[in-house]
Amino acid sequence: MTQIRRRGGALAILWILATAAVAGAAPLPGEADSARVEALLAQMSLEEKVGQLVQMSNPDDATGPVTARADRTRALRTGAVGSVLNVVGAAETRRYQELALQSRLHIPLLFAQDVIHGYKTGFPIPLAEAASWDLEAIRQAERVAATEAAAAGVHWTFAPMLDIARDPRWGRVMEGAGEDPYLGARIAAARVAGFQGSGLGALDAVMACAKHFAGYGAAIGGRDYNSVDMSLRQLWETYLPPFKAAAEAGAATFMNSFNDLNGVPASANAYLVNEILKGRWNFQGIVVSDWGSIGEMVTHGYAADNREAARAAINAGNDMDMESGAYGEHLAQLVRDGEVPVARLDDAVRRILRMKFRLGLFDDPFRYSDVERERRVLNNPAHALVARNIARESIVLLKNEGPLLPLSPKLRTIAFIGPLVKAKQDNLGGWAMEAPGFDYSQLIVSQWEGLQQRLGPATRLLYAQGSDIDSASTRGFAEAVAVAKRADLVILSVGESRDMSGEAKSRSNLHLPGVQEELIKAVQATGKPVVVLINAGRPLVFEWTAEHVPAILYTWWLGSEAGHAIADVLSGDYNPSGKLPMSFPRSEGQIPVYYNHFNSGRPAVDEPGHGYQSSYIDLPFRPRYAFGHGLSYTSFRYEHLQLDRHQLRGEEQLIASFELTNTGPRAGSEAVQLYLRDPVASLVRPVQELKDFQKITLQPGESHTVQFVIDRDKLSFYDARLQWVAEPGEFEIQIGPASDEIRLRDQFLLQ
Ligand code: GLC
Repeated sequence: MTQIRRRGGALAILWILATAAVAGAAPLPGEADSARVEALLAQMSLEEKVGQLVQMSNPDDATGPVTARADRTRALRTGAVGSVLNVVGAAETRRYQELALQSRLHIPLLFAQDVIHGYKTGFPIPLAEAASWDLEAIRQAERVAATEAAAAGVHWTFAPMLDIARDPRWGRVMEGAGEDPYLGARIAAARVAGFQGSGLGALDAVMACAKHFAGYGAAIGGRDYNSVDMSLRQLWETYLPPFKAAAEAGAATFMNSFNDLNGVPASANAYLVNEILKGRWNFQGIVVSDWGSIGEMVTHGYAADNREAARAAINAGNDMDMESGAYGEHLAQLVRDGEVPVARLDDAVRRILRMKFRLGLFDDPFRYSDVERERRVLNNPAHALVARNIARESIVLLKNEGPLLPLSPKLRTIAFIGPLVKAKQDNLGGWAMEAPGFDYSQLIVSQWEGLQQRLGPATRLLYAQGSDIDSASTRGFAEAVAVAKRADLVILSVGESRDMSGEAKSRSNLHLPGVQEELIKAVQATGKPVVVLINAGRPLVFEWTAEHVPAILYTWWLGSEAGHAIADVLSGDYNPSGKLPMSFPRSEGQIPVYYNHFNSGRPAVDEPGHGYQSSYIDLPFRPRYAFGHGLSYTSFRYEHLQLDRHQLRGEEQLIASFELTNTGPRAGSEAVQLYLRDPVASLVRPVQELKDFQKITLQPGESHTVQFVIDRDKLSFYDARLQWVAEPGEFEIQIGPASDEIRLRDQFLLQ
């Protein structure tokens, strides 16, 4: 449930209603007309068909290793390119489109961009947004991103990234929704709905792209691009659900991944694309390779050269080649040689042309390249309010002894210390757009600015940098300690720089970088009350801080409105409601650690080294913070769990209801979680699996009856033959505010 708060919240609500209405009202021009696709296809030469399958990047803004290519302008003019990426702006896309329309059949280009968490308005990184557990807020965030991107000439975003990740050494955890297939699937559908809005062709909608298909987050060692090897059961149970949800939500495109999966690179994995995506899921959209991944099959050792790579990829179902050059160089000859069926080539071209018709590009190739609309849309003040709202909801209160938070209005002097206090671009996190033509040093609200504005002149705010983000220098410690001693309370803002998480940012050491934890110790030693903000794109390891500091907020990277959102939570204007979408390890040695694990025959126990158990002898078994963990400034009581039946037959549904009461002093939102367990089955099953959640907002003293509907689908799993089955027997219900905090339990029987 999303609560757009006061301070212009009404404006944001008006914006959301308006964009929904307008987009839905206008007839969608260029509705894909198969006759028009067939008529155009019939006119196309073999080379022109191949040209539609080629995607090139703007070489001046590359997001991967640029494949040297002679003359991109000539390729555009001769129809040898069907899509470009990293070209944005109404004027620039118009210029490129004019070049493409000089080709014989005047086929317009598709413009693609990595709008991963916002275009001009910077939103929290996707992992942070997942911590909001607020599907409507996530959908609205993507509505803003799509509206801004489409106004800037973008037709296609390379998002949402749907890779389930259980290993925070992998830097791309920042782009996804964490470790859980159910949460990941629900968020996938919300993001696709946000990007595609009322339908492709609306001027505030962009094509979504479900990526990276598939298994990329399971790279061995957490090392980006590394091999993935897993059972098909694991693939179906853990890694495919978000992609299946995206396909069911109507995602227009998919992108395959760099990794090999069980020995076959995803770029030519017919099992993934032809059998699952286009076969079982009947996907009718476009499958694009990742940057250069077709050519990389030579390096994988799966193809002898680019010609073999092109053949393997197209025949496995890959429709478009991003930046490898393999399709452009070899596909026409492969077809002439009979190694690639014309029917397969035509199928790929149809998929691409269909989208171009649906976007209305044949009716008006410049309809997304309107400079006046771009100026108006990119300066809409309501967008910042939508960003501030989800940024607040993404913050996770990990610890709050005292309680030290929210900040007491009696505090006269606060020290705000750390290398991220006055940071600007770092708040955007990785894969941030920074739209051309805007001064982000002005646009981004730093944490210092946000808190200074909120506290006003009555409270003295002192500053010291204290340390760098990632150096061994302790030169700033003395000043930090001196400033801390002059204050009533200290807030420390520490963590990663924005480029420490993201693509090709695998880390073997997840501790706070540099000497930041030493800085925390030095400030803590003053005896002043300390609050720590941890800014990062992934779970970090901070055992000393977790043990000794009374209050900790995980602030991820929150985007343009970071300063306002953090001040809203510190001041208590917003009661934190975030819940962790990933387990936080106590050490790198504990990875992979995730909540939905099997029990084993000798389950781990918490005391290290306790007998013949599956425990470490040198570390407690449980993560530092569990999946679903997140505290509030208020408290909630869970009681009166009732099942409307204790036996379930056939297609019947069971309703579990309970009463949630806000027993604390202030309004608050709680993401209540339903976990199920199948204690005995034909395959061992996890000790718990998230199967539903609701985010409920309650005033102090208010109660609400929460209902969860349990049906066979929620009881099903992929059996040894990969059949989706629900097996008769007993099931356990677990309900609570976190995977390690179950407040209500019951059982029922599936007949
Ligand atoms: C990158 C990423 C992918 C992105 C693409 C285009 O290598 O893996 O997520 O969409 O290239 O920038």
